[in-house]
Amino acid sequence: MPHQIQFAPLQGYTDAIYRNAFNTIFGSVETYYSPFLRLENDHSFRNKDLYDINPANNTGLNLVPQILPKNAKETAILTDLVVKNGYRAVDINMGCPFAMVVKSGRGSGLLVQPEEIKAILTEACNRTDLTVSVKIRLGHDTPDELLQLLPVFEQYPLGRLTVHARTTKQQYIGQCHTGHFAQIYQVAKLPLVYNGDINSLQDFEAISAQFPKLAGVMMGRGLLMNPFLAAECHGLTFEDKASMILNFHDQLAEKYSRKLCGEAQILAKLKTIWDYLLPDIEKKRRKAIVKSRTYNSYNTAVSESVKSYFANE
Ligand SMILES: Cc1cc2nc3c(=O)[nH]c(=O)nc-3n(C[C@H](O)[C@H](O)[C@H](O)COP(=O)(O)O)c2cc1C
Repeated sequence: MPHQIQFAPLQGYTDAIYRNAFNTIFGSVETYYSPFLRLENDHSFRNKDLYDINPANNTGLNLVPQILPKNAKETAILTDLVVKNGYRAVDINMGCPFAMVVKSGRGSGLLVQPEEIKAILTEACNRTDLTVSVKIRLGHDTPDELLQLLPVFEQYPLGRLTVHARTTKQQYIGQCHTGHFAQIYQVAKLPLVYNGDINSLQDFEAISAQFPKLAGVMMGRGLLMNPFLAAECHGLTFEDKASMILNFHDQLAEKYSRKLCGEAQILAKLKTIWDYLLPDIEKKRRKAIVKSRTYNSYNTAVSESVKSYFANE
């Protein structure tokens, strides 16, 4: 039985529209995590967060909203929002490496505040109506820090501990520290999920073989680059990948057109997909996509690029 695959939260990419189109066309993902929900300074919610977790915008998929609290109070407000929207699970972000977030004591800024971690987890886990999970990194400066913190997490009945096998300092680049993850794997009693650079079937198989007892693996950019990856990890194959990508793209275009205003805004949003999608597309074709100024020229560039890309497979 292959490991369960979870779609990582990716702020700016895996919003409700993206998740729904992905799930309809490619699937093979057990759980989707929302990009983090956070509070404004006056403790109000962002409209885009409210839209993103509204159950009406997330039909037919298993969504776990992720929150970015800095203390117990923010945890209470954000978990209330999650429960009011009908969810029975919440994920707490303790891994975001952005300087502003870390400085404010949120995300991976919590890695150096074990007392605040306890306050947040006590608040969240006191809610009997919620399964709580945490997404974290191996450390702030060095990848051995989480091992020291593990006893703190093991005091709580977490549904999952997802570990991105990098440090805060590394942000999203550089080698994942699978050796340090292995040390956690050997001693952890909590259900563990591995995250970081699973970008191919070979990567998935290597992680599954090295860590057979994982509760799952989480993939982020690997799925943005190759949306077939989760299905391929489950042994599925596809005849007409070009049509599936174009269909996916059409669904995104249709939904973003309804939500956003004006050609320029819609095109700008659609072009973000190409930050990652099909990285091996010829340079000149990708350039034609990102430089296009009208919906017509953009569509032609997308259609030609995708067809020519898969014609060579
Ligand atoms: C653009 C971008 C946005 C991200 N947004 C979030 C987020 O909202 N919450 C979170 O926990 N992690 C976020 N991450 C981290 C990813 O969920 C994931 O941990 C990281 O990309 C490593 O996994 P990957 O190598 O499979 O992409 C983000 C990463 C990127 C590159």
